[in-house]
This record gives sequence, C-alpha cells and structure tokens, in this order.
Amino acid sequence: MPTPAELHQDGLALTPPMGWNSWNSFGGNISQQAIFETADAMVATGLKAAGYEYLVIDDVWHGCRSEDGFLQEDRKKFPDGMKAVADYVHSKGLKYGMYSDAGVKTCAGKPGSFGFEKQDAQQFAKWEIDFLKYDYCYAPDDWQTAIGLYNRMGGELRATGRKIVFSVCEWGVRSPWLWAAQAGGHLWRATFDVVNKWDAPQNCNKGIGILTAIDRMSGLEKFAGPGGWNDPDMLTIGLKPNDNVGIGKTCNEHEQRTQFSMWCLLAAPLMIGCDIRNMSPLSREILLNTEAIAVNQDPLGKQGVCVSRVGPMEVWKKPLTGDRLAVALLNRDEHEQPIAAAWPDLELPEGQAMKLRDLWSHKDLGQFKDSFSKSVQPHECVLLLMTP
Ligand code: GLA
Repeated sequence: MPTPAELHQDGLALTPPMGWNSWNSFGGNISQQAIFETADAMVATGLKAAGYEYLVIDDVWHGCRSEDGFLQEDRKKFPDGMKAVADYVHSKGLKYGMYSDAGVKTCAGKPGSFGFEKQDAQQFAKWEIDFLKYDYCYAPDDWQTAIGLYNRMGGELRATGRKIVFSVCEWGVRSPWLWAAQAGGHLWRATFDVVNKWDAPQNCNKGIGILTAIDRMSGLEKFAGPGGWNDPDMLTIGLKPNDNVGIGKTCNEHEQRTQFSMWCLLAAPLMIGCDIRNMSPLSREILLNTEAIAVNQDPLGKQGVCVSRVGPMEVWKKPLTGDRLAVALLNRDEHEQPIAAAWPDLELPEGQAMKLRDLWSHKDLGQFKDSFSKSVQPHECVLLLMTP
C-alpha cells in the first residue's frame, strides 16, 4: 500500500498542516477587513514564524453562482473579491485556503460544488488558493458516492496544476482514513466538529468535546504519516463564549493546554480557531509553544498512541526522530492523580537512561532509568520530551 506522500508526489503536507481557519470564531461574520487584519496578526504575533502558514476562509464567503456557472464571492463581505484576498495573504508570506462542499449546498446553505467540480477547481486555482476544505453537507450518505465525489474534486484540483492541499471533511462517518489519500486528500476529518468543551459525546449537531475527539483518534495511527493526516478538527484554544463554537463557556487553562499537548502528540493538523487579533497572553503562550509544535511537526510523522490506561490516568507516546519520544501524562479525572510512565509501557529497555524535559515549564528534569512519575492536576496533561 503506497503511503500518502507516495500517492500524491506533490511534496505537500509532509508534516501536519498548521494555520488558522475562520469558522470557530467568526462563523459567517467574515469580511475582507477581518481577514486582512488576521493575516497581519499571523505575522505580528509570531504565529507565522512558529509555523502557522495557512489562512483558511471557511463557509459563508459566497455570493450566488453566476448565470454561466461560476462561483462568486459575497461582494458586501469581500468588496475587492477573493483574488485580492489571496494577494494580500500571499503578500504576507502566508498561504491561502478556501472552503466548498461536495453536495449541492454548503453546510450553511451556500452554493456547493456538486456538478461544478471542474469549473470550481479552475476558479479556485484562478483565485490562487493553496488549500481547499471540502465539506459533505447536502450530499448522499452512501460511501460509494462520497468516495466518488472526493475523487472527482481531488482529480480536478490536481488537473489545475496548482499545488493545493485537499482537506476532506466528511467528519469520519465513512472511515475516510481508508480512502481519502487515494482521492487526493492530505488530511481528513476523523470527528464531528469540536466545540469548546472538555467532554461531550459524539453528537453531529451540537459538536463534541476535546476528550471525545482524542478517543476518536485512537486506533487510526496507522493511517497517518507524511502527506496524509487524521484530523480531529480545529483548536478551540482562546475561543470566547460568544464565538461561533464558543458555546457560552470556555475551557479552563489545563484543558486548553491539554488540547494543544494532545493535538501535538496525535500529529493532528494545528488549525487555530480563535480571533488572533485579540489573543489573551495564555492563548499566545499555548499556541506559540514551539517545543510542543516541534513534537507535532517531527518529520517521522508518527501519530501518538495510548500505552497505558489506569482508570482515568493515561500515558501516551509519540516516537520522534533521533530515537527520542514525546510522552504525555493525561489526567481525565476530577482529582489530582500521580501518573507514572514506566519504561516497559514505552517499549524502552529497563535501565535505559533517558533525559527528560517538561515541554510546558520548559525545564530539564534530569535523567531517569526505569520510570518517571508526576502528580497531574485534574484535566492536565504533562508533555515530556525523552532523549536517550
Ligand atoms: C461543517 C464543518 C465545519 C464548518 C461548517 C461550516 O459543520 O464540519 O468545520 O466548516 O460545516 O458550515
């Protein structure tokens, strides 16, 4: 079975894509002004320098289709048109992404690409996009049709000759990890939408919590690698209660750091969802944790796995280049708990000396030879780097 990178032969998404997407904070309230300011903020805040490169405009940028079938932007929101937005985003050294849907309408009821795949792919290429998120509302439920529709758009994007990351978004309903890379996909959603909640079970309409998304990723590790990634949806870090998926509350500090630690450990795409023009110092600190980002972006491209589970206490590991490991101690409990990472669980020989570094306190912890144990706060995740 060829790897995603071998299938694509385009050099794209060799590490998990990183960027910002408009949906979580803005929803349909997007505008040229807001997008320009966001592009500015990606540079000014240091996010671009940390690796966040794609600026993706999600749903509700659309006007109607023209009489000759071309997708048009909403000129009230984007008075200078989408190409002008692309030019501005590119002028900042960023890459530019847009959104469409395989069905007749997008999830928010705007024109979908069904039946217009070639024309839309060409239009997107003319607008100079570098990333297309392709949703699956208003489309038939069955697997064969879905696979066919993603193949069709994947093929049309390739045929434009422009290098475009293809983001498959059918929410993991039809096991896209089995077919999305062949359809041209560089990442595929494995979950329904993640909202700003710690724990909420699988629910198509209201969205799921952080823990549910993490659990959904378990077992999918063999499908992830350079060129193709399981996508547990965007980051909710920094969302405010009134944001589009803010759902009237915010996750606490530990929960927000945990989402980032686990998305890094799971080699998940890191798409920021908050309004980066007004980030709190905490959001900045989390999203700009370059040591955690290095775990996510490690060129081996391994998705981490859970290696030990004792009730709500879990140990996860992600192999990194140079025989190093990233290890997460995750406390899902409502009480502080000691969590131990034992060498046999990590498949390290007993007695093997490992140097440990805490990637949130940014401190070296010393050398350990058979286990490491730490008291972990409720909903906290300790993220460690282990080096032989
Ligand atoms: C779906 C997707 C979301 C977002 C919205 C836009 O729900 O899963 O990520 O793109 O549609 O309408």
